[in-house]
Formats: sequence, C-alpha cells, structure tokens
Amino acid sequence: MNEFDEFAATWDDDPIRVERAVSIAQSMRNILDMNTYQNALEYGSGTGLLSFALKDDLKRITLMDESIEMTKVAMEKCKLSQVNHLHPIKMDLLIDEYQPGSRFDLIFILLTLHHIIDTKEILSRFKHLIAPNGALAIIDLETEDGSFHDREFNGHLGFDRNDLEKKAKEAGFQPFYYDVIYEIEKGEGEDKKSYPLFLMIAKSI
Ligand SMILES: C[S@@+](CC[C@H](N)C(=O)[O-])C[C@H]1O[C@@H](n2cnc3c(N)ncnc32)[C@H](O)[C@@H]1O
Repeated sequence: MNEFDEFAATWDDDPIRVERAVSIAQSMRNILDMNTYQNALEYGSGTGLLSFALKDDLKRITLMDESIEMTKVAMEKCKLSQVNHLHPIKMDLLIDEYQPGSRFDLIFILLTLHHIIDTKEILSRFKHLIAPNGALAIIDLETEDGSFHDREFNGHLGFDRNDLEKKAKEAGFQPFYYDVIYEIEKGEGEDKKSYPLFLMIAKSI
C-alpha cells in the first residue's frame, strides 16, 4: 500500500491545499504562456488539485501518481465535473514502463519531488518524456530542518537551489526561473513555522 492511499479520500477537504494549488497555478501562468502548451503531464498529481486549477489553460493533461487511491479520486473528480481532457493514470515512472503517444511539452510536479529519493533518475525520465524546448516546472520545499513531515519520512528535506539546478542541467534542462512563490504555515503560537515553496522552471535543451 502506498503511504498516500489512506489520505486520498479526504485530501481535498483541506481548503488550504485547494487554495495553494490555485495560487501556484497563477504563479505558473505569470511566467509561462500557457496557450503554447498542448500536452502536459502532472507528475505526483495526487487528487489533481493543481491540474484542476490549470484545466482551462491547458488542452490536455495526463495526471500520474503511484497511489491507486489518489488516482481513483482524480478519476472520480474528472467524471463528476465532466472534464474530459484530464487523464489520471496510476504510474511510477521509476518502475513502470510508459510509452507516450507523443511527448509532453509541459511537465509540472508539486510537492512530490522531495518524496522521490533518486532525483537524478526521475529528472532523466522527464527528459525522455518531454519535447524539445518543453518546460519543466518544479514546485517544492526549499531546504528545511526535517520538521515539515510530522510522520516518519525518508525523502529529501527540501532542496538547495544550486544543487537542484545542477541536477536539472545534468539531466538536459536549462533552468531559467526560480523564486519563492508560496509559504506553507504549520503549527500554532510559538511553534508556528513557515516553509517556503519555490517554483523552478527549466527548458528542455
Ligand atoms: C505530498 S503529495 C502531493 C500531491 C499533489 N501534488 C498535491 O499537491 O496535492 C505527493 C504525491 O506524490 C505521489 N508520489 C510519491 N512518489 C511518487 C512516485 N515515485 N511516482 C509517482 N507519484 C509519487 C504520492 O502518491 C502523492 O500523491
């Protein structure tokens, strides 16, 4: 069982997650000319919050997530809202074979990269799936002290900008934008902490 399966049914109940996706979609629109993209991939899409926030901007979005329950929720949302150009599929690109009909011209990934141990390998899978000049948008945590996850966690404690840009370049991407676009607040009172989320955009070269 995937650790996210148990969260799937109630994932969208948190209004902050929904509001965050809407805000991040706007940050992406501010930098990328969405009309130029025909065929996008959201990787680690969960219930599809970010793809739904971008559904009127993009002609087709494939939503991939390794959690079957997250994928089922995303499918149900598409069905209920009669959205036919979003296509959720259960997939872990590090394990499963995937043959796209055509390459993606935009790949985006929100709060998922830090869960994937082998950053280099997943970036290289993205490079295989992206069209020349396609854009890769990564939204994730800046380096944190390990307090972000309040359960056992063995992924990355956020990312260092220089290190991630170096890895992206090694995988065949040219980063051209980086900024902090959102702050996730956790805790109360004196324990309140803020975790910056960056948006990094790189072009496939
Ligand atoms: C923190 S959640 C973020 C979900 C969604 N992007 C959002 O912001 O609401 C991380 C998601 O990444 C998925 N995930 C983790 N590792 C993955 C992998 N190797 N391949 C595909 N999906 C993965 C999990 O199943 C989960 O749905």
